[in-house]
Amino acid sequence: MEKERPRYFPDEGDVADSQPFTPGFGSTPPCLVGRDELIRDVCALLAGDPASEGGANVLLAPRGLGKTVVLNEIEDAAQEERGWLVLSVSGTDGDPIAETHKAVLRVHDSWAQAHGEPVKRQVSGMNLGVGGLSAGVSFNEEVDMRRTRYGDDLRRDLGELAGAAAQMGARVLLTMDEMHAIPLAKARQLGSYIQHIAKRERQALVFVGAALPYITETLLADRKSTFLQRLAVHRVDNLSEPETRRGLREPIEMHGGLIGEDALDIATSAVAGHPYMLQLVGDRMWRAAGGAGNPIAINHAKGAVAEARESLEDHLFAPTWESLSDTDKRFLAALAVLAEGDDSPRVTSVCEEAGIGKPSASAYRRRLLLSGMVSPGSRGRLKLAHPAIGPWLRGSITTGAVRVPEAPLPGI
Ligand SMILES: Nc1ncnc2c1ncn2[C@@H]1O[C@H](COP(=O)(O)OP(=O)(O)OP(=O)(O)O)[C@@H](O)[C@H]1O
Ligand SMILES: [Mg+2]
Repeated sequence: MEKERPRYFPDEGDVADSQPFTPGFGSTPPCLVGRDELIRDVCALLAGDPASEGGANVLLAPRGLGKTVVLNEIEDAAQEERGWLVLSVSGTDGDPIAETHKAVLRVHDSWAQAHGEPVKRQVSGMNLGVGGLSAGVSFNEEVDMRRTRYGDDLRRDLGELAGAAAQMGARVLLTMDEMHAIPLAKARQLGSYIQHIAKRERQALVFVGAALPYITETLLADRKSTFLQRLAVHRVDNLSEPETRRGLREPIEMHGGLIGEDALDIATSAVAGHPYMLQLVGDRMWRAAGGAGNPIAINHAKGAVAEARESLEDHLFAPTWESLSDTDKRFLAALAVLAEGDDSPRVTSVCEEAGIGKPSASAYRRRLLLSGMVSPGSRGRLKLAHPAIGPWLRGSITTGAVRVPEAPLPGI
């Protein structure tokens, strides 16, 4: 008799769509909380004059606060509500100029194929609703865009695409995630193209980028690029307590689950307004209780918080720590030590503990604020950006998992 082969894949109903939480970077959660106002504000700017300052925007936040998710929502709204053409590029994909050009040509090809087709046709995920495709959209026939090297004629091709979009009453929205990864020279070049098309040619091109906050010290501080200097900055903040509670409770209830108030209190306090942590805690509680139909109790919440902290440490704190300079590390370690007794120590005490001269204090304070590991306290004070950072860093220093660089000897 043949032995029955064991089954390895989960039941189809158990995957993706049926999960209430999405603990992965860049995944849009079933319940996106606390971002309506921000998304509306950016959309209102994009709908204004593309030549004005609201035509070019950037979302700033430390890792895991939801920049990519907000960017994706704006893209979807632009496509679905306005029929705009969306070109989305990531700063980590390679040469941003070449990648933007490829995106332009991809959209151009879809249009060329669809030219003359019935109105409101769906082209590879783009809804060309408003005005449809019939409104005499034409590109310069003599130019074969594919013959150019990627990037060479980006300004011309992007301008033509924006012109064609305008003929149908639409706009081109260019988005650039992970913008901090772009070299300054490329950011300047891209900025000058966008500015030329939107301001000089007055074409319908608008822009939204997303980046880690330290670009206020790098790209956005560039004196040579007025595009970069004038980007309208939007901060993506931590979630408030009621938003966090809703972000945990709603997806559970939507998926046929239940959570008690005590368990919700424990989870909300551990999340501390951090969206990625919210997804981790939510997901681990849901699984611990056994899914739909099983109420989530205090013990599930406690276990989930411990597991979620471990993930947060491995995927967020440890990589951020590794990206800091030696002196930043000493400063942060000193802050974590002092924070055990006083959760918001004075910057001057932190410098003393770290052996850093007072004149450098404001520079390190600022750099750690930008790294997202530290938040400003009241006058002259600082605190750790998430309550789990202190115990993690102190514990890791004690076990030797994390090494704090020695202060250099005076005169070296
Ligand atoms: N407003 C929100 N409500 C609930 N969950 C959210 C919200 N925003 C983001 N998330 C969740 O948080 C996680 C991180 O989101 P996202 O990847 O957009 O962050 P990010 O800021 O782009 O991070 P990174 O800088 O690493 O790219 C995802 O699991 C996402 O589902
Ligand atoms: Mg992201």
